[in-house]
Amino acid sequence: MAVRRPSYLAIAVISAIVLVSLYLVATRRDGTPIPSLGAGRVKALRPKLTDDIYNSTLGFEKIFVIGLPSRTDRRDGIVLEAALSNIDVEFIDGVQGKDVPDKAIPTGPGLERMPDPNVGSWRAHINAIQEVVRRNLSSALILEDDVDWDVRLRDQLYDFALSAHALTQPLANSTSSNSAPQYADTTFPDPRAGLPSIPDLAFDSLPATLAPTASPYGDQWTVLWLGHCGMRFPFPPSYHNDNNERAVPKGRVVRAADPTVPQQQHLWTISDPDDLKAQYANHTRVTHHMQDGVCSLAYAVTRKGARQLLLELGLKPLAAPFDIELRWFCEGGGGDAPRGGGGAGRHTCLTTQPSLFGIHLPAGPRKSSSDITDHGDGFQEKAVTRNVRYSVRMNADALMEGRRTDELVDQWPDANEVP
Ligand SMILES: *[C@@H]1O[C@H](CO)[C@@H](O)[C@H](O)[C@H]1NC(C)=O
Ligand SMILES: *[C@@H]1O[C@H](CO)[C@@H](O)[C@H](O)[C@H]1NC(C)=O
Ligand SMILES: *[C@@H]1O[C@H](CO)[C@@H](O)[C@H](O)[C@H]1NC(C)=O
Ligand SMILES: *[C@@H]1O[C@H](CO)[C@@H](O)[C@H](O)[C@H]1NC(C)=O
Repeated sequence: MAVRRPSYLAIAVISAIVLVSLYLVATRRDGTPIPSLGAGRVKALRPKLTDDIYNSTLGFEKIFVIGLPSRTDRRDGIVLEAALSNIDVEFIDGVQGKDVPDKAIPTGPGLERMPDPNVGSWRAHINAIQEVVRRNLSSALILEDDVDWDVRLRDQLYDFALSAHALTQPLANSTSSNSAPQYADTTFPDPRAGLPSIPDLAFDSLPATLAPTASPYGDQWTVLWLGHCGMRFPFPPSYHNDNNERAVPKGRVVRAADPTVPQQQHLWTISDPDDLKAQYANHTRVTHHMQDGVCSLAYAVTRKGARQLLLELGLKPLAAPFDIELRWFCEGGGGDAPRGGGGAGRHTCLTTQPSLFGIHLPAGPRKSSSDITDHGDGFQEKAVTRNVRYSVRMNADALMEGRRTDELVDQWPDANEVP
């Protein structure tokens, strides 16, 4: 009796059916991937060096994380987060203010010793900057240990870099050897030049600029203030006094419909007024020169910038908390307090709103949320990260299990917009 063997055709048909149904099962949840950036990038504006932003130090030479060794909980958190993001970090030990003797704090007439938490924070940041100088690093990103970021951080940084080029790299069509370079922002580098107000640069039609050679983020920056609790847009010229104190270049790169930016009811800032909310639609990101920044959650410095900061904020009289001195360093001159650090000169410091790095508040007693500021008594019911939608920390389980991107949690989902 002849056994009927299945024909090869039948096997092929059955395998195809099996494969197709497996595929359907795998995608049945029909989730759409989380919205990615990149669509608005102009292809021509992709300098090779800028691809280094996708490396393990985000296009900087090193990434330092500042934190007290005793806060092992925070080290655990940031080590895991960095691992899940394929980011390489090194710790710089935080300092308790009480361990810093008076003699070690540069002071001047009329200056009193600041409260211990501010002294400790200042010392820890200066230690990080000192390390950049000592190791002669070309650039470094310095993070506080309670920050969090979006799973799309590298794409966000890439877009930030393209925006930074538009603000500070010479226009590609302007450079002949015998004329001064021209910039898309006519108030850069001299904020007194240019018109009283200059038009926004749209992210999806940025002008062609010369490719940077020193850093993926451009060749002219000193500080990139990427994690903050609030910023203002550059003040209008009418604000500045005769010495042009606190005048910074006015250019803005505006990206509409950035899917990583939460709707405005979810945005958190301590700046008052909140310029971003007052002037732009939902999901808008604006990149500009630093003005009136608060909280040094995350900032990058160049080799030269670190040396200047060590001089101005390390060795000159300490007159204000570190973040305020960093603001003075960027804006130059002015300020209301007796001026110690900061120096008189202005420096090129770029930032973006909303902040790319957000403070992560874990669930638990609020007292543990900061060793500097008082978060009050009481209990943080639910962990949150301010301003970050697809937070790495809040999605740690899913990322570790290799779950699909559409299964990640959007912390700040959109309310339905009224059509
Ligand atoms: C990442 O890129 C930056 C900028 O080019 C470079 O300085 C740094 O060494 C790179 N990091 C790694 C780990 O390759
Ligand atoms: C620091 O780096 C610069 C640029 O690479 C180099 O010219 C200089 O010699 C270095 N200095 C030291 C002390 O290594
Ligand atoms: C150079 O490019 C800028 C921006 O694209 C444009 O506004 C300007 O007119 C150009 N200048 C010349 C000389 O072509
Ligand atoms: C942003 O979206 C929210 C929720 O739909 C809406 O209430 C608000 O008016 C929008 N804001 C702007 C500036 O359009």
